[in-house]
Amino acid sequence: MPGDPRPIGVFDSGMGGLTVLKALAARLPHERFVYLGDTARLPYGTKSAETVQAYALQATRLLLDQGVKMLVIACNTASAVSLDLLQEAWTPIPVIGVIEPGARAGVAATRNRRIAVIATEGTVRGGAYARAIRRLMSEASVVQQPCQVFVALAEEGWTDSPATRAAAAHYLEALFSGPSAPDTLVLGCTHFPVLTEAIRAVIGGGVALVDSAETTAGAVAEALLGAGLESETGASEAGTVRFFATDSPERFARVGTIFLGRPIEPASVELVDLRVL
Ligand code: DGL
Repeated sequence: MPGDPRPIGVFDSGMGGLTVLKALAARLPHERFVYLGDTARLPYGTKSAETVQAYALQATRLLLDQGVKMLVIACNTASAVSLDLLQEAWTPIPVIGVIEPGARAGVAATRNRRIAVIATEGTVRGGAYARAIRRLMSEASVVQQPCQVFVALAEEGWTDSPATRAAAAHYLEALFSGPSAPDTLVLGCTHFPVLTEAIRAVIGGGVALVDSAETTAGAVAEALLGAGLESETGASEAGTVRFFATDSPERFARVGTIFLGRPIEPASVELVDLRVL
């Protein structure tokens, strides 16, 4: 078989998952991607598990209709509540979430076995990160902190504003003071990697900051290889991305540029309604 030319589907509640797409595209230059941001219904982080599961199923349907060969749930909140459902229920392709790779990165980084995880309310409520970390390192002490306001700040492009630093201090100052402070902070939300400077200013230089983008890209590369789904080297349309959003392509392109780290043309973003799927 000369390689599988079908694209990889990547799904997030909005634009934050573009941080994961960026890592995937860098790691897998021969692949094509379809990215779906459910911008009309963001944030997922404040919604119930049942609601997010219903959204994730609709997003999966759209990506399956696009003929994807693998599904990456780039959204931590959706991964936390719907990965098992999507893997077990009816998805006929491999499904990869970001929680396990993020947990793996945290465990690899810690020296004192104290790990903090910051995420949305929904991700923290379900405890998926704490469980994944303890599965890998049973003696780990895990502290989870919801930081929902970070999502809005990142969406505004306030990556290192006084307001962002104030929010970072509010959420993290107490957690990272004292002799038993964690030595590792897992950014358990798609939006948080762009806030690294503001977070770093509060927690100091000695704490390892990890996110799941790189480790997820590694997990996807392994899964592609394992399932024999890799594209051919030099495949036509290698590296191309088809963007779908459920609200304003203009806003998706403008804000998405911050997360992807390269310009997105508004005309390249297709508007789609998941409610009719
Ligand atoms: N994508 C979400 C996550 O990673 C953050 C934004 C939201 O709350 O929808 O948890």
